[in-house]
Amino acid sequence: MNMANCPFCSRRTFLGGLAIGSAAWFAPGVFAEELIRTPAQTEGPFYPDKLPLDTDNDLIIINDKLTPAVGEITYLSGRILGANGKPLKNAAVEIWQCDNNGAYPHSRTGNADKKDPNFQGFGRFTTGAAGEYLFRTIKPVPYPGRSPHIHFKVKIKGKDELTTQCYIKGHPGNEKDGVYRGIRDPQARDSVTIDFAPIKESKIGELAAKFDIILGLTPEA
Ligand SMILES: [Fe+2]
Repeated sequence: MNMANCPFCSRRTFLGGLAIGSAAWFAPGVFAEELIRTPAQTEGPFYPDKLPLDTDNDLIIINDKLTPAVGEITYLSGRILGANGKPLKNAAVEIWQCDNNGAYPHSRTGNADKKDPNFQGFGRFTTGAAGEYLFRTIKPVPYPGRSPHIHFKVKIKGKDELTTQCYIKGHPGNEKDGVYRGIRDPQARDSVTIDFAPIKESKIGELAAKFDIILGLTPEA
């Protein structure tokens, strides 16, 4: 209702109502509190002890090999943001995960005998001005003791800022996974539980997944 034709509205009560309803949007710093910081999780034992020869953001093809990795191809993307929602550029994003047979790029991995020689298992990407990263990888699979997950490490100016993991939304293994359950706050749990959705235009059944990472930093404008 327009204030001018509202017989019950004085300017004071109108502004009063606005102030109550919208205070959260105008109070400095409050918006930042609405972003759920991505919870830190264990690095686990399988951060590569020897980096692969290829460490680019395409984990499906190693260097100029012709044979791709086995698995459900997934475009995994997202943004690295500060606590105030501003993008963090030049953040080094690293991911590592096991191959479709549960083997990591690590000398002490399980399932070493079944290792997929075409899966890179580890990749890096440096964010641009919008804080965005992109990987082509596989949809993670379970291995004994763990629900499917992808490990992440974010570094800024060479310093580790966050080590975490993301999970598949709706996967029945999540609720039984000790690391996942270790995230007590339901909103923080949700923040690391992401959709792996089919890409409509893809004729070969590729998936897309989006994982935004919110750090505790507050970058300046
Ligand atoms: Fe793992």
